[in-house]
Amino acid sequence: MKIAIMAGDGIGPEVVGQALKVLRLVAPQAETEEAPVGQAGIDARGKPLPDETLALARRVDAILFGSVGVADEASIPRERRPGTGLLQLREALTLYANFRPAFMFPELIGASTLKPEVVDGLDLVILRELNGDVYFGKPRGFETNEKGERVGFNTMRYSESEVERIAHAAFRAARKRRRKVCSVDKANVLETMQLWREVMTRVGREYPDVELSHLFIDAASMSLMRNPKQFDVIVTGNMFGDILSDAAAMLTGSIGMLPSASLGVDRKGLYEPVHGSAPDIAGQDVANPLAAILSLAMMLRESFELEDKARQVENAVRTVLAQGYRTGDIYQPGTRRVGTTEMGDAVVQALRAAA
Ligand code: NAI
Ligand code: MG
Repeated sequence: MKIAIMAGDGIGPEVVGQALKVLRLVAPQAETEEAPVGQAGIDARGKPLPDETLALARRVDAILFGSVGVADEASIPRERRPGTGLLQLREALTLYANFRPAFMFPELIGASTLKPEVVDGLDLVILRELNGDVYFGKPRGFETNEKGERVGFNTMRYSESEVERIAHAAFRAARKRRRKVCSVDKANVLETMQLWREVMTRVGREYPDVELSHLFIDAASMSLMRNPKQFDVIVTGNMFGDILSDAAAMLTGSIGMLPSASLGVDRKGLYEPVHGSAPDIAGQDVANPLAAILSLAMMLRESFELEDKARQVENAVRTVLAQGYRTGDIYQPGTRRVGTTEMGDAVVQALRAAA
């Protein structure tokens, strides 16, 4: 088990530190090596994804990633933006399938802004395509039009093979769950998405045991708020997936609870909390480390096929929530407010107690 540790910026090192404690306990045989990325990469080597970091990423079986980013990132030129490090890593390793589960822990039902009956038992996964779409499509840039004003433009692009591989990933994932795939597009307006829908439908015929439905992104956003429990696997493009998965994350109460996995052609994966570097709370030992710890559980399951170990970690998270431990983002009166380190220690304690 060779694992690269890329803690990154802001709260990244704080939450990854807790996940590492859990890793040492459940898989002491794992070999880990740390490498800088994001602003940490710029500080250490002048680039958001230093060559040494990319070389390590290529060598290992899995990457445990924290978060990258600084406040006011959009004002920095693209090549010196910390977030560019993550985009380059996803592209270089062809990590095209981004799984973001959104599930409701019974103990946290009151933390959601939605009515309890709407979110009680919620368990869905958003599968976001990660290598294509308007985020990578060329041409892109700025030009000047005939009136002399500046014009910014990007291009939404998907090839058939790109849609095919994400479609297969969606149907395979659904087979391990409730066998339902909802493909989200904007086929009524965009040619890119018309192709998306055609390919989804074609690949779907290879999985007759999985129910395939289609929704336009606007209708899907509505359904996700009104009746999220109807969904099992939602598969969508890079941009729609970016937005929809953050919305889905909020159904469950806190972004500090949600893990993600980005997978490619083999079992190699990058595992990271859904949240960013949270500069507003960095360095205060208050960030919720459970998303990072649950990302580690996804790694044990997907990259190392250690289903038992993954379950042990997830159960330990459930245990600490049942015991009333809460970081600030999920705190409710009557529960026990703890910091990042204390939450990590509680999970380790729960794992020890269950062993
Ligand atoms: P964010 O996810 O960092 O923070 C949003 C809000 O949620 C903040 O109020 C923050 O305090 C809170 N929050 C986030 N994680 C938390 C945790 N574990 N526990 C408790 N509270 C938590 O998103 P934001 O503020 O839009 O972006 C901050 C920086 O992070 C930017 O530079 C952005 O580009 C970057 N970013 C990086 C991502 C990544 O590394 N994958 C993903 C999203 C944003
Ligand atoms: Mg996002």
